[in-house]
Amino acid sequence: MQTVEKLRNDDYKAIREFVYERSGLFFSDAKLYFIENRVSKRLKSLGMTRYQDYLRHIKSPANADEMNHLFDAVTTNETSFYRNPPQIDAFADHILPKVVESIRARGQRTLKIWSSACSSGEEPYTLAMVLLEKKDLLRGLIPRVYGSDISVEILAKAKEATYQAYTMRNLPPNYKKSYFEPKGNEFGIASQVRNMVQLSQFNLVDYKSYIKFRSMDIIFCRNVLIYFDLKVKRQIIKNFFDCLNNQSFLLIGHSESLHNINRDFKLEHFSRALAYLKSV
Ligand SMILES: C[S@@+](CC[C@H](N)C(=O)[O-])C[C@H]1O[C@@H](n2cnc3c(N)ncnc32)[C@H](O)[C@@H]1O
Repeated sequence: MQTVEKLRNDDYKAIREFVYERSGLFFSDAKLYFIENRVSKRLKSLGMTRYQDYLRHIKSPANADEMNHLFDAVTTNETSFYRNPPQIDAFADHILPKVVESIRARGQRTLKIWSSACSSGEEPYTLAMVLLEKKDLLRGLIPRVYGSDISVEILAKAKEATYQAYTMRNLPPNYKKSYFEPKGNEFGIASQVRNMVQLSQFNLVDYKSYIKFRSMDIIFCRNVLIYFDLKVKRQIIKNFFDCLNNQSFLLIGHSESLHNINRDFKLEHFSRALAYLKSV
């Protein structure tokens, strides 16, 4: 079998520009080896040895499906259940009650939460579990959790909803007991949780399609903004603002901030966590 050539700088630049155009993901010069490591596997699967051939292949409309493989290859999907516990606690104990109060004041019947870069599902399933724990607060409302991601491969894992113990390390013990079923050495998500979560592929730079996620009450967009440049971050956050109902919240990763990105949201402080409020 022939080996894949080394990735030259000019081919790296052409690949990263193409990835940026299609996904908003920006790779600095230092990421050449990361991209080479990930994309060379695609060339091998296609029996190709030259990056120029791969670029021609992926740009051809006849091979549109290869785009999904490229997204799978270049994304970083690290996640876990109950990730950043102080933020999930703030969501459960402070943000949710505020949002529910606004929903009831508006006479709204549904509560809609969007996990907008949901990876293998740990985030949206965590949110659904919190909603089940808060069933008294939500009495009379129909809760819905939407999970979306650009990567179809990672979404397939989310749909499978079977996990190893390591990704459950931050979960409170009562959540493990109530919402998982042993499946050999792994753990499957209980159907009452799965049924609340709707998963679909969505590319955050597909700006004209945000209409699918309008009238949200809470949006989670954690640990993905770091991969975008300022222009893309601004556009995504503007779209989130437009998707949210009034008196609704956006939650981003704990190392991320909207400083210099957006001035429409108001920063709200909770004990050991921050969130952004839409209040117009
Ligand atoms: C590091 S994971 C974060 C998962 C989860 N939000 C968390 O904080 O645990 C980042 C996710 O963003 C997704 N992603 C990257 N670019 C995207 C885009 N343009 N549109 C939608 N999702 C994207 C990746 O596929 C990956 O699953």
